[in-house]
Amino acid sequence: MSTLELPSYLDQTPEVAARFSRLRERPVALEVRGLTKRFETPRGVVTALDDVSFSVHKRELMCVIGPSGCGKSTLVRILAGLETPTSGEVLVGGTAVSGPGPDCGMVFQGYTLFPWLSVKENVMFGPKMAGKSSFTAESEAREWIDLVGLSRFENAYPHQLSGGMKQRVAIARALANQPRVLFMDEPFGALDAQTRCNMQSYLLEIWKNVDITIVFITHDLDEAVYLSDRILVLDANPGRVREIVEVPVPRPRSESQLFDPSFMATRKHIDELMHPPGQEQKDTPVMRLAVSNPDVV
Ligand SMILES: Nc1ncnc2c1ncn2[C@@H]1O[C@H](COP(=O)(O)OP(=O)(O)OP(=O)(O)O)[C@@H](O)[C@H]1O
Ligand SMILES: [Mg+2]
Repeated sequence: MSTLELPSYLDQTPEVAARFSRLRERPVALEVRGLTKRFETPRGVVTALDDVSFSVHKRELMCVIGPSGCGKSTLVRILAGLETPTSGEVLVGGTAVSGPGPDCGMVFQGYTLFPWLSVKENVMFGPKMAGKSSFTAESEAREWIDLVGLSRFENAYPHQLSGGMKQRVAIARALANQPRVLFMDEPFGALDAQTRCNMQSYLLEIWKNVDITIVFITHDLDEAVYLSDRILVLDANPGRVREIVEVPVPRPRSESQLFDPSFMATRKHIDELMHPPGQEQKDTPVMRLAVSNPDVV
């Protein structure tokens, strides 16, 4: 077999099949039923999501991947109750989501810490709003800050932290509210490549120690395969579920698995789902420019 002829990721070993059978037996933490979202725009109606349905099991880490504009952020905003769907429903722990609530935590790509509060005060903010005493909120905040490895920086302010450190605080702040599901929309997208890799490992380490279900939006294939139990691949225009891919790569994950056959085969499969043969040129702006203006070389 040449190196390009990878075994199909669908040829699951008995161990992998057993792993996913165990995953399916776990309770459903998040259920999405027939979600459709249309936006009225000056250019007409945009159907961002069309009849999207899927379930995420307790303690599962699911990545959602798809081309730019396919509705990933719209989806995650609806799941977190920040946006209402045109039709369909979302259930977290069996209860319909009707707005933002303590069951759902959110970490965005942009740095969203309160700049006037220290690291500790940022993490204490949610528990204090939920009615906890300052003493309880502070001792809990210390534990979350310790979990993300920033104990030495608890009195620092956001402007004194690197991008990766800010996102670790954002994770601690979201976890401090003890949500059932943590939604992350390209949280490492603004970081340099090395910091991004480190953050992926940090996230897996944190997830190992916290009883939480994670839905993680990304457009990075390696990130999706490295983090996920399963990957939801979305089609664009309109955003529809293309396939839900079970990642056969064993846990615990490490960077050394990037070149394992199961990692490469899964990556290749998702790449093919996202870039079906014959569609590459349609999405290339340079080609459009060349066609519309033949004088431009
Ligand atoms: N508030 C809005 N009003 C009108 N159209 C919107 C709105 N929000 C999103 N859209 C449209 O819905 C579609 C999906 O957008 P969305 O931001 O969810 O995509 P995305 O997959 O997150 O993209 P990216 O990868 O670039 O972040 C796009 O066509 C976008 O223009
Ligand atoms: Mg987005």
